[in-house]
Amino acid sequence: MLPRIDELAKKISINKIRTICDYRGNLSIIEAQKDIPFEIKRVYYIWDNKDNLPRGGHAHKELWQAIIAMHGSCKIKIYDGKSTIDYILDKPDNVLIFPPGYWRDLVAFADDCVLLVLASDYYNESDYIRDYNEYIKYVQDREENPLL
Ligand code: TYD
Repeated sequence: MLPRIDELAKKISINKIRTICDYRGNLSIIEAQKDIPFEIKRVYYIWDNKDNLPRGGHAHKELWQAIIAMHGSCKIKIYDGKSTIDYILDKPDNVLIFPPGYWRDLVAFADDCVLLVLASDYYNESDYIRDYNEYIKYVQDREENPLL
């Protein structure tokens, strides 16, 4: 069964990325399966967002993601089908670790936002739920049958 949104908040609260700071500046480090709970199979990034248009608008069935605002800021709105929780990403040493099963909308992009996403698997369209009603049904089915 999906964790409740309050449990989710604990599970996906934004983590500080280990950072080495010296007189030259900062160096931040993420090691797969140490700093984030999955192997990294894919990296992509979102940048040059136009007219503050939202992105996301989907859930993943299996995919884990870790999201970092390398530059600028944006807001990630997460839904579990009942409740919502918002995270602001605005520091390159913060990472939002995002388990599968939740609907997300990416909004409030600063013009200079560069959003890095580390993903646990290759791109696979069949892992997406892009229809909100379908997502609600998916959540209900999971609640009724946690083995799904
Ligand atoms: P999508 O995941 O819907 O982006 P966002 O959540 O930011 O709105 O992807 C947008 C398009 O890019 C869609 O046609 C699928 C394609 N895409 C890939 O081909 N490979 C990828 O790794 C990703 C993330 C998207």
